[in-house]
Amino acid sequence: MEVFLAESLGFCYGVKRAIKLAREQAAPDGTSCTLGPIIHNPQMVSRLAEEGVGMVNALPDMEKGTVIIRSHGVGPLVYDEAKERGLSLVDATCPHVKKAQSTAHELFQEGYSVVIVGEKLHPEVRSIFEWAGGDAVIVDSVEGAEAVAPCARLGIVAQTTFSGAKFKEIVLHLLDKSNDVRIVRTICTATDQRQEAAIKLARQVDLMLVIGGKNSANTTRLAQLCAKECQTYHIETVAELQDEWFDKIKKIGITAGASTPDWIIKEVYQKCKNRT
Ligand code: F3S
Repeated sequence: MEVFLAESLGFCYGVKRAIKLAREQAAPDGTSCTLGPIIHNPQMVSRLAEEGVGMVNALPDMEKGTVIIRSHGVGPLVYDEAKERGLSLVDATCPHVKKAQSTAHELFQEGYSVVIVGEKLHPEVRSIFEWAGGDAVIVDSVEGAEAVAPCARLGIVAQTTFSGAKFKEIVLHLLDKSNDVRIVRTICTATDQRQEAAIKLARQVDLMLVIGGKNSANTTRLAQLCAKECQTYHIETVAELQDEWFDKIKKIGITAGASTPDWIIKEVYQKCKNRT
């Protein structure tokens, strides 16, 4: 049995940066907290908690200290509220997400009706929505695009981790909604690279293991793409591997979402190698 790693996998620039910023704020007295999980990976969130970076779900849960804004970003009101509450703020929003937020904000200010192509409930999309004046339409399907009302000026941005192919398909159905359509493809290259590398590898192996949080949108998407090419399992940790998956398998491919720590990838890789 052979084991291959995707050419591009695991932590992206934005996640590495967010974790570094959070670690710099570690405080044993529990006064440094991320607002929501810093990334969509439960194992990393637990490790940070051990190191002195806690988590709160809302600002009223903090009386003092430092609030760390996670890589997905937040809307403008959170910055105001942190200031009003006298909290220090460390902004670990990924710069690519910042770009999507500021683009949506500019389009809104220039009088464009903003469409965000992304998943309605994803925290990053919620943050972009708020920067777009709280009046944007969020679309994640061709049907959703068809339902967008015609308007004078239409501005389109994307969730940074959205599928490039699906974005293109949806945008084609938005083009006839206005004579003034502005498209800003705010999808980050880390997402494209991981998706392309995963598909390439999935076409060459019998089985793909996609590692990452079950709550991670980009990991789930990698698993969906790989599943179109070969037998695929989405796992969070090495503990989920099951012997029967490997019957008659000659080549195993491994990829991981942008929020999957190296140590988890290494454990899965080693366990697979030990079977060879
Ligand atoms: Fe940022 Fe792209 Fe990662 S948006 S958090 S670099 S997947």
